[in-house]
Amino acid sequence: MALYNAKFSSFGSFAPKKVVNNFDLEKLVETSDEWIRTRTGMFERHYTSPDEAASDLATQAAIHAIESSSVKYKDIDLIVVGTVTGDHAFPSTACIVQKKLGLKDIPAFDVSAGCSGFLYSIDVARNYVENGTMKNVLVIGVDILTKITNWTDRNTCVLFGDGAGATIVSRAGKNEISHIIDSAIFSDGSQGDLLYQAAGGSRMPASHETVDKNLHTVYMEGNKIFKNAIRSMFASTDEILRRNKMEAKDVDWIIPHQANLRIIEALAEKLHVPMNKVIVNIEKYGNTSSGTIPIATDEAIRTKKIRRGDIILLTAFGAGLTWGSVLARY
Ligand SMILES: CC(C)(COP(=O)(O)OP(=O)(O)OC[C@H]1O[C@@H](n2cnc3c(N)ncnc32)[C@H](O)[C@@H]1OP(=O)(O)O)[C@@H](O)C(=O)NCCC(=O)NCCS
Repeated sequence: MALYNAKFSSFGSFAPKKVVNNFDLEKLVETSDEWIRTRTGMFERHYTSPDEAASDLATQAAIHAIESSSVKYKDIDLIVVGTVTGDHAFPSTACIVQKKLGLKDIPAFDVSAGCSGFLYSIDVARNYVENGTMKNVLVIGVDILTKITNWTDRNTCVLFGDGAGATIVSRAGKNEISHIIDSAIFSDGSQGDLLYQAAGGSRMPASHETVDKNLHTVYMEGNKIFKNAIRSMFASTDEILRRNKMEAKDVDWIIPHQANLRIIEALAEKLHVPMNKVIVNIEKYGNTSSGTIPIATDEAIRTKKIRRGDIILLTAFGAGLTWGSVLARY
């Protein structure tokens, strides 16, 4: 039972400096700007430098979100980070961000849900805020997929970029219109082998052989993921709208995970929503996994597309398989 409403206080984002475009990738594998643009909608992406890790990007995005809000550092009660490319297997990236922000004596943990990590983390934060346990939860989505990319595989290496986005999920005042209306998350572990990183965990620890065979990089059956993505994002958006007695036409902005422009267009078509109500920035960032939705939302707020009071619908899918949606009045 919800005692309080939760709301998005603010968003922030951060992308590393280095920008790599399709023409740069033409020099790496047998591909073309034309193929990448028409099959994915991507043109540029940001890459981290060798000395940058997930917590560095996450901390910058967090500072951006905190300083865009009226929430003070000392008022943050919990840090949740959605990531599959954390600094280390342990400790969690959330704990490293906590140290970097100088926040003491609060809990911090990571959520592993592939590209759905940010939405899963919002679901966790929302529940803590609604049940009264926490007042302000810092939620971050960050991934550095370029550090687990197989640079000889043209099927995957052109798709990924690095980035982080953050939001603060806060208790909403009684008369505030801004609130998270609902969130819905799902998974299907039976399809986990369509998208995974084989080595480096307890199933297949690192060895010379795993490195030689490129088993520490992303394995993806792109075509099957493509079909699943459209089906699952439609299913969760449809479910969350239906159970809140709303229709897609009631939504001001759809902010989907940015994995492929064709997936986003197919989703919009199934929802009968025109593309001018869908936030797309895939051409500038590629797929930053857990970073895509908060980066796109932050940009849309800063460019004054999304305004206070707008109904927003966030939707994602990813490794697991996982998927989900968040419906909110911003
Ligand atoms: C990966 C993806 C872009 C591939 O697009 P696609 O239209 O499905 O393409 P296919 O995999 O059917 O491949 C078509 C052809 O293009 C080729 N191709 C693949 N990558 C290429 C590249 N970078 N440049 C040029 N050709 C490429 C393939 O080898 C294949 O050639 P073939 O017909 O001679 O065998 C698409 O499947 C996709 O976006 N999938 C979902 C990815 C995703 O969401 N991942 C993250 C989940 S969070």
